[in-house]
Amino acid sequence: MRFARSVGQAIGANLAIISLAHALSPCTQISDSYDFVIIGGGQAGLTVGGRLAEDTNHTVLVLEAGENGDAYRERIDTPAYSYFDSLWTTPLNWKYYTVPQPNANDREIYWPRGKTLGGSSAINGLYMTRPGELEINAWKDLLGDMEGADNWSWDSFYAAMKKSENFTGSSDAIAEEADIHWNTSNHGLEGPIQASYPGYTFPQVGYWSQSLESIGIAISENMYDGENWGAEVSTSCINPSNWTRSYSRTGYLDPLPDNGNYDVLANAYVTRIVFDNSSSADNLTATSVEYTTDNGTTISSVNVTKEVILSAGSVGSPAVLLYSGVGPKDVLSDAGIDLVSELPGVGQHLQDHFSATVTWDTDSETAGTIYYDDGADKDNELFLSYIDSAVAYVNSTALYGGNVSSMESSILASIDQYAPNTTYDSGVIAGYKAICNITAKNIFNGPTGIIELLLMNSDSNGDIGITAALQHPYSHGRIYINSSNPLDYPVIDPNYLYNPADDEVLLQGIKMARSVGGASPLSNNLTSETAPGSSIQSDDDLISWIRGAASTEFHPSSSCAMLPKDLGGVVDANLLVYGLANVRVVDASVPPIALSTHLMASTYGVAEQAANIIRGFYNGVPLATSTASGSESDDGDSSDGSSTATNSSHKSTSTGSDSAPSNNAPKDKTGLLSSICMFLVLGFGLSM
Ligand SMILES: Cc1cc2nc3c(=O)[nH]c(=O)nc-3n(C[C@H](O)[C@H](O)[C@H](O)COP(=O)(O)OP(=O)(O)OC[C@H]3O[C@@H](n4cnc5c(N)ncnc54)[C@H](O)[C@@H]3O)c2cc1C
Ligand SMILES: *[C@@H]1O[C@H](CO)[C@@H](O)[C@H](O)[C@H]1NC(C)=O
Ligand SMILES: *[C@@H]1O[C@H](CO)[C@@H](O)[C@H](O)[C@H]1NC(C)=O
Ligand SMILES: *[C@@H]1O[C@H](CO)[C@@H](O)[C@H](O)[C@H]1NC(C)=O
Ligand SMILES: *[C@@H]1O[C@H](CO)[C@@H](O)[C@H](O)[C@H]1NC(C)=O
Ligand SMILES: *[C@@H]1O[C@H](CO)[C@@H](O)[C@H](O)[C@H]1NC(C)=O
Ligand SMILES: *[C@@H]1O[C@H](CO)[C@@H](O)[C@H](O)[C@H]1NC(C)=O
Ligand SMILES: *[C@@H]1O[C@H](CO)[C@@H](O)[C@H](O)[C@H]1NC(C)=O
Ligand SMILES: *[C@@H]1O[C@H](CO)[C@@H](O)[C@H](O)[C@H]1NC(C)=O
Ligand SMILES: *[C@@H]1O[C@H](CO)[C@@H](O)[C@H](O)[C@H]1NC(C)=O
Ligand SMILES: *[C@@H]1O[C@H](CO)[C@@H](O)[C@H](O)[C@H]1NC(C)=O
Ligand SMILES: *[C@@H]1O[C@H](CO)[C@@H](O)[C@H](O)[C@H]1NC(C)=O
Ligand SMILES: *[C@@H]1O[C@H](CO)[C@@H](O)[C@H](O)[C@H]1NC(C)=O
Repeated sequence: MRFARSVGQAIGANLAIISLAHALSPCTQISDSYDFVIIGGGQAGLTVGGRLAEDTNHTVLVLEAGENGDAYRERIDTPAYSYFDSLWTTPLNWKYYTVPQPNANDREIYWPRGKTLGGSSAINGLYMTRPGELEINAWKDLLGDMEGADNWSWDSFYAAMKKSENFTGSSDAIAEEADIHWNTSNHGLEGPIQASYPGYTFPQVGYWSQSLESIGIAISENMYDGENWGAEVSTSCINPSNWTRSYSRTGYLDPLPDNGNYDVLANAYVTRIVFDNSSSADNLTATSVEYTTDNGTTISSVNVTKEVILSAGSVGSPAVLLYSGVGPKDVLSDAGIDLVSELPGVGQHLQDHFSATVTWDTDSETAGTIYYDDGADKDNELFLSYIDSAVAYVNSTALYGGNVSSMESSILASIDQYAPNTTYDSGVIAGYKAICNITAKNIFNGPTGIIELLLMNSDSNGDIGITAALQHPYSHGRIYINSSNPLDYPVIDPNYLYNPADDEVLLQGIKMARSVGGASPLSNNLTSETAPGSSIQSDDDLISWIRGAASTEFHPSSSCAMLPKDLGGVVDANLLVYGLANVRVVDASVPPIALSTHLMASTYGVAEQAANIIRGFYNGVPLATSTASGSESDDGDSSDGSSTATNSSHKSTSTGSDSAPSNNAPKDKTGLLSSICMFLVLGFGLSM
């Protein structure tokens, strides 16, 4: 049975046929059945999809809720537009809000997330930083002696991250002005994602590292090989051959040859995974995936012969599991969903980077003044490749000096008290304690950065800002649902600042941001502090300001955590969901620890490693014959002669009807909140 009505674009081996303005050709239908059905064509989904489809023994389908993005391609492609013509205002953004946050003045915090091919990698701020060796090894240590745990050691994960990358240094002139340092041997040089630096910069970017160095935070040359502390101008996912954004669609989808075994369907909103109820109750087999292309008016279904791979992101993946009846039994019964498989950890362990920005007036030219005051370079291609990328990862020694161990002790003492009270399961609580314990002992008490500082040079009012972002929250939240309608948004509760250890660390981060702004040479370009302003000085006043001003760095993770089941885990070391025979999660929801980095590089690492594991698992396993019911071919240009798969459908991006899901998230209601949102949309806090 086939309900999907869709318009498809066939992309052949020849890149030249990708004409963005005329990307659609009519009436490609997907097949009835695929070996792998991937839910979510975002950053991780297209990465794992592209890698699985390289094996022509497999048929692969990606179902993406959002539209294909072609109508917005110039805005996606142009790095600086992630500030100046943000996709936040378009249907390519889910526009979520958290529930009111009691420790942040009851504010509902805006959570943009990408909703298009490429997902959040299509709408984000292009920073390409990496996590550290100690963090990845702490993740592996949490797995104990679980089979496959070694795939998540630093050495293995580092190789997976590098595999996705193709690094190119900057020009000498940019390197000199921006004080950029790199060590090529720490980078991948053959991967599909282009990592480089903008073709335009500002003197204050160069002052960044000097100011940090003057207060003891050295420039780091080895941030990419696991030593993730110190100051740097980070790489960005920029293709330096034409100054465009490099993201999962351009890296892992557009250039693929058409081998006839890979379909990508946009506007396909997955509502449920369906299980064979004759399969073992503690090892359920997923047999099909249901989705809608018309906002729920009709439900379509596609059969699965090998596996379902959930790559719907830190919000979407737990939501799809919950709507499929897999999750905590209290959440499911409150929402009116039949329990299919009890798994208390689904949606729990949610961690996010909470952040706030100190701002100053300046007489210097900034990217913001060039763009908003119609500077001469406003439409210059090089200027439009400029993106903020000066960062520093500041560790506990830099923040606490001789008081690191007393701070560590008070964090350890806080753990029992601030375990989440939103679970009936002692395993989830044990998992919270294990994550916080290892974070305090192996990460806080060591060289890893615990606060990120970011230089913000693109604000609409021409200010310069320094953001401080908490990297390892000891407050964990959750994603859950309160409806039985899968088109209703899940409930997002990051539980910001529940544990006072987070207030304390973020407070020190804000003070450090102020110190950097006060350090020469950057200080020579900053006039008065505009936020929080010189009247806010005491710790209490600063914490009150943080409660009213802080927001997300857009890095939610860990909501389908890889952990032992008795620590509230959702997936095992092979990414398989506990209790399900053939469902894996592959995205930013998997790492059990918030990592001290922007999440793209680690998410590519998760997806590359997933592809290694899955392809390793199926190597030599013959293709199931039931997949031979392919759709008609309509492009006929598979010129590479490698179209050997039994399924004749083609790698294609397709659009169904252009429908929006319901949005039951509360909208901003007051002028104040709207102006905060406008401030965020137009200025600081955007696009990390
Ligand atoms: C505004 C913003 C700025 C950011 N800045 C940076 C940055 O500069 N550097 C960095 O490294 N990281 C950044 N991040 C974080 C990073 O982009 C994400 O952590 C990462 O891309 C997440 O990848 P993912 O595959 O887990 O999810 P996503 O890329 O979000 O993909 C999930 C996909 O699943 C789809 N989906 C969800 N539900 C369903 C469903 N029911 N059916 C079908 N499809 C579904 C979504 O539409 C989406 O396309 C930023 C994030 C945001 C939102
Ligand atoms: C999908 O699977 C179901 C259950 O196994 C089966 O009844 C149905 O015929 C399958 N549909 C197709 C199109 O293969
Ligand atoms: C990594 O995963 C693959 C595939 O499951 C497996 O063959 C391999 O043994 C694992 N490696 C380690 C070191 O666990
Ligand atoms: C990597 O980047 C270089 C430019 O530095 C380019 O010539 C090469 O084609 C790129 N390789 C890949 C695989 O994208
Ligand atoms: C560059 O990285 C390599 C590999 O990590 C390391 O051996 C080398 O010392 C680094 N070079 C510098 C100058 O730090
Ligand atoms: C930029 O260059 C890459 C090849 O390096 C190409 O695939 C892509 O289509 C180009 N983007 C645009 C918008 O021209
Ligand atoms: C910015 O600071 C630099 C370095 O101290 C100085 O040379 C320059 O004049 C300053 N620019 C402005 C506009 O103040
Ligand atoms: C959990 O604790 C918070 C803060 O103490 C409280 O407001 C909330 O009501 C508690 N929730 C439950 C379910 O007990
Ligand atoms: C806490 O972490 C340390 C260091 O990783 C470990 O040795 C210890 O067993 C952990 N304790 C608990 C209770 O998890
Ligand atoms: C902490 O950070 C500082 C500054 O970046 C660095 O010099 C130091 O080596 C780091 N490690 C420790 C344990 O302090
Ligand atoms: C679950 O079933 C699959 C095949 O359907 C099998 O490979 C796997 O070993 C089973 N897992 C458990 C834990 O029984
Ligand atoms: C396809 O499967 C066969 C065995 O069934 C195996 O020999 C071959 O290597 C596989 N192809 C790929 C591309 O992995
Ligand atoms: C989609 O359906 C939901 C109910 O499930 C409804 O609230 C929403 O308005 C619909 N959206 C559109 C664009 O029709």
